[in-house]
Amino acid sequence: MKIISTIEELRDQLRGQLRTAFVPTMGNLHEGHLSLMRLARKHGDPVVASIFVNRLQFGPNEDFEKYPRTFQADVEKLEKEGVYVLFAPTEKDMYPEPQEYRVQPPDGLGNTLEGEFRPGFFTGVTTVVMKLFSCVQPRVAVFGKKDYQQLMIVRNMARQFALPTEIIGAETYRADDGLALSSRNGYLSEAERAEAPFLFQALNFVANEMRSGHLDVSQLEKRAMEDLAKRQWKPDYVSIRKRIDLQPPSAGDLAQGTPLVVLAAAKLGNTRLIDNLEI
Ligand code: PAJ
Repeated sequence: MKIISTIEELRDQLRGQLRTAFVPTMGNLHEGHLSLMRLARKHGDPVVASIFVNRLQFGPNEDFEKYPRTFQADVEKLEKEGVYVLFAPTEKDMYPEPQEYRVQPPDGLGNTLEGEFRPGFFTGVTTVVMKLFSCVQPRVAVFGKKDYQQLMIVRNMARQFALPTEIIGAETYRADDGLALSSRNGYLSEAERAEAPFLFQALNFVANEMRSGHLDVSQLEKRAMEDLAKRQWKPDYVSIRKRIDLQPPSAGDLAQGTPLVVLAAAKLGNTRLIDNLEI
């Protein structure tokens, strides 16, 4: 595996590659990330991964400084997955001057759910993803459904800008007890880690109620929020949305069986976890 930090060197290395499959990450890699590498390999060749902790997508009070950086261990994992190039730019490589041009997601999709609780987050994501795509020029790029809204926003961005990159969604990789793997799980104490699968259980409760015909959306959302709060979670939202645009379903949508997804974000101690489940 070649480890490359400058955009110029990356372009030289990938010149003429027409089938590149790309997996952007912020490192601290776990099996969830590695499952994306495996999916990428099915959709293209070579597989290119990136590791870049993108300051633009962190709020002033978020965990940019303490975000886990485990570069050597990450490199070993990527070597085993047959990744051809790891693009690992420094901040100077990526942002040699202030990044004043930004890609702004539309209000409807960018300011709801995660966008409501993390102002500027998705602008930071779309800006770096656009820039990474410009560097790597991938034919396909793989994103996890774990970050469902991020996947939707990147997919819509690629469509509206007519990018030559197909966006592929990968299923959420979970621990045996249901907890979605996440770099932020490392912040959990032992007791919190034992409690953490309850977030997925709450989503399953909502999904099962919906599937069995209990269609009072706001009541279900409220019940799930209360169940979380009773167990010391601080939920930001539990929300049932249409998969297509992540907007709330109308009565007509519910009657027609429009595909839905339930998304949640909640803090356990100081750690904010997100998860979702397609209904
Ligand atoms: P990061 O959190 O490192 O995640 C990188 C990719 O791995 C994302 O597409 C994410 O959805 C996916 N992923 C994380 N945990 C997963 C799991 N348990 N199962 C399946 N996929 C999982 O998301 C980012 O980085 C950044 O926002 C980025 C897109 C790299 C832009 O900076």
